[in-house]
Amino acid sequence: MEQETIRTLIETAVHQLNFSYAPYSGFHVGAALLAESGALYTGCNIENAAYTPCNCAERTAFFKAVSEGVRSFRAICIVGGANGILRDYTPPCGVCRQVMMEFCDPETFEIVLATSPTDYRIFRLKDLLPMGFGPANLEQTSGV
Ligand code: THU
Repeated sequence: MEQETIRTLIETAVHQLNFSYAPYSGFHVGAALLAESGALYTGCNIENAAYTPCNCAERTAFFKAVSEGVRSFRAICIVGGANGILRDYTPPCGVCRQVMMEFCDPETFEIVLATSPTDYRIFRLKDLLPMGFGPANLEQTSGV
């Protein structure tokens, strides 16, 4: 990815921290998802008094995009921290990695973890979800 694209993704994800609804954990997360078209989809975590309906920032971004007919993605940036202060990288939870597996090529999809526009690391989905189960696995013939 180009330097400018990385910076835009990080700045957009950081801006999303303003919208995080996290009254229970106090852990604010923002995400910026880059579609193949170049369009950006944003997300924040959205918690709930009943706890289980909590939605991660990454999934918010993915579901916004998919609900608008977009299914091809290049990269996502995730930032987060207690009270919205970015001290460390916020890696995607297992459920979010699985959602990425549904729509992204694990060999090429890039996950940017950042604490600032100059402090970041980029991972491929295949490294964060080795041997992931995806749509292709359902295409195997049963052999019966
Ligand atoms: N969270 C995310 O939004 N993304 C992640 O990948 C890690 C966890 C949220 C969920 C919950 O609102 C809060 O962070 C604490 O787990």
